Amino acid sequence: MANENTNLKIPTHVAFIMDGNGRWAKKRLMPRNYGHREGAKALKTIIRACKDLGIRYATFYAFSTENWSRPDDEVKGLMDLFDEQLDTLKQYTDENARLIFIGDRTKLSESLQKKMAENEEGSKDNTGLTVLIAVNYGSHDEITRAVKKISALTKEGDISEDQITPELVNSFLDTGNIPPVDLLIRTGGEERISNFLLWQCAYAEFYFCDTLWPDFGKNELIEALKNYTSRDRRFGGVMN
Ligand code: FPP
Repeated sequence: MANENTNLKIPTHVAFIMDGNGRWAKKRLMPRNYGHREGAKALKTIIRACKDLGIRYATFYAFSTENWSRPDDEVKGLMDLFDEQLDTLKQYTDENARLIFIGDRTKLSESLQKKMAENEEGSKDNTGLTVLIAVNYGSHDEITRAVKKISALTKEGDISEDQITPELVNSFLDTGNIPPVDLLIRTGGEERISNFLLWQCAYAEFYFCDTLWPDFGKNELIEALKNYTSRDRRFGGVMN
């Protein structure tokens, strides 16, 4: 889809690795959790920008399966922040956004799980931007959980081995029938994928920038989209 104002090619699904909150806070001699709070503000700015630009799906990496190894006070700060922020997401679901959480939520507090379910349930019929938030998410864990479910169904005779296709595996991932990622954006200067949406990014374009996540706003997103617009996506085929 081309954007009439800017001639931008608008990807259907953009995924964000929101890196750099800690460094952003450190530069200001503030605690890391202050950076995460500012990061949550940036996330909301970007949700709005995605909606304005006509992006259909936006996925945000909020907490990885590896992030539990951070200091206790940082983990607690992040969990408290999520809990608090989940009360405010209604402003987007009221504007027709659909909210989905991916990751293994069984390890999260009852309160968080309840709020996640409420946000999902309350927005499941919305037809605007779909926002996916990854909490306690890691691709290895997601794929392993999918394999276990498929294996159980095979064992019970509900599906045969021949029925195990890439489409079936895909449907058992947390992202279910969400389209694959077109563009993965990582802020904060690191150039790696960090166990995020490995399956879903099979043909994604990657965009890395030095901007720290709390400083990433609509203009920075438009820069990423300009770069994406210049890419030639061939999906394993040849150049036209
Ligand atoms: C990585 O930066 C960031 C995180 C692990 C947390 C991201 C979470 C948010 C932006 C808040 C999300 C809010 C909601 C509502 C889900 P880092 O801490 O690794 O930064 P550093 O590399 O500078 O240390």
